[in-house]
Amino acid sequence: MTFTDSLRSTITALRDRYPQPRSAVIPALWAVQEEEGFISAERFADIAELLSITPSEVESVATFYSMFALKPRGKHFLLVCTNVSCALRGSDDIVERLETRIGPSGSTSADGSVTWERTIECLGACGYGPAMQLDHHFVENLTPDKVVDLLEHTENYLPGKGSAHHGKPGAHEAHEHHSEPTSEHEESDSKKSRRRSSKR
Ligand code: FES
Repeated sequence: MTFTDSLRSTITALRDRYPQPRSAVIPALWAVQEEEGFISAERFADIAELLSITPSEVESVATFYSMFALKPRGKHFLLVCTNVSCALRGSDDIVERLETRIGPSGSTSADGSVTWERTIECLGACGYGPAMQLDHHFVENLTPDKVVDLLEHTENYLPGKGSAHHGKPGAHEAHEHHSEPTSEHEESDSKKSRRRSSKR
């Protein structure tokens, strides 16, 4: 099966932004993953053809970065930090709960709703650990019970999709930490920004 027309035109447009077509390999891989959920070996050749490089060059990039999924995932993807700061704040308990509920890192829940993995590197939210990303949105200050709630009400932890509590982005975290509802990601970015400013 080849690309859909829309995916082909997306990757072509990405390619045309760069002086060298090969520079678009990472954006092209993202585009495929975004539309198809993972990057199959067949797509290495499809991307390579559009970027005038070899399939093995595309494969070498896709297999180097852990953020690329090379096999199908569930509807949602949880990336759990187990680096040192999160480990000191209990990420082992988070992992244990996920292993009990879903299976080892890389497993998908029986209903296909969630795939989870443990990180190789720090997620950059050390001050709010244990932390995870849910479909690239940060969820922080995790506890085992909070993880169970997230598995049972995943949509409520996604910005713009919350409904169980307030119907607003990041409702869970806003409820715990702020009077102003804001998304986890926004919260982290603003705090990181303040930290950066204070260092200047
Ligand atoms: S150690 Fe977990 S976010 Fe940095």
